[in-house]
Amino acid sequence: TDYEVIIPAAGSGKRMGAGFNKLFLELNKRPVIAVTAEVFLADPSCKKLILPVQPHDREEMKRILPRSEKIVFARGGSERQYSVRNGLELAGSCSVILVHDGARPFISAGSIAALAAMAGEKGAAIAAVPVKDTIKRAKDQIVTETIERSSLWQIQTPQAFRTSVLKKAHEAAERDGFLGTDEASLVERIGHPVHIVPGSYDNIKITTPEDLYFAEAILKKQGG
Ligand code: C5P
Repeated sequence: TDYEVIIPAAGSGKRMGAGFNKLFLELNKRPVIAVTAEVFLADPSCKKLILPVQPHDREEMKRILPRSEKIVFARGGSERQYSVRNGLELAGSCSVILVHDGARPFISAGSIAALAAMAGEKGAAIAAVPVKDTIKRAKDQIVTETIERSSLWQIQTPQAFRTSVLKKAHEAAERDGFLGTDEASLVERIGHPVHIVPGSYDNIKITTPEDLYFAEAILKKQGG
């Protein structure tokens, strides 16, 4: 299934505490964003990579990414959702669109293909793995509820959609002032079913400093 991908890359990296965009941090001498982008550049079904970036990061992004006519930059937003929305304005040449965090370099070609195919068929498909820990809700650090684990999934990216579905979902969110932490939550709001495609525990998001240790271990396992 041919698709375009939006790779939001406009975060500030506050939780990483590096003082600059964490996507510039290196794994085995390669910047995280370059590793992520290369997975898509290597996929012939990927027709366009749209990267929302902050203006001050743009030159550095251009320098470290492989040269490719498939890469276009969009304006980064103050929230991830706004970065994706800005990217979406440059999309539309394929009927399927993926959104994938720049901070998840370990996505597999197999997962991407499965998600794109499912999105083409059903309209919305997201990568996820079953939750391993017990999850409780708490108020003021007092537990109020234990959530039944067997129905819980840890949601990752890529999240894949029919382009028309994602555009409609973003328009509705904008109209209602809804801010979600992923694209699927916007699609759920407009009543469109979102299908889970089981993925891999390797597909971590590099968020806090300890994630860099996990990332090195995953790279080593993958022979990278
Ligand atoms: O902060 P977090 O790791 O959840 O961000 C996920 C992805 O969204 C990262 O690749 C980050 O660069 C991107 N992002 C963005 N614009 C923002 C905030 C985050 O493109 N305003």
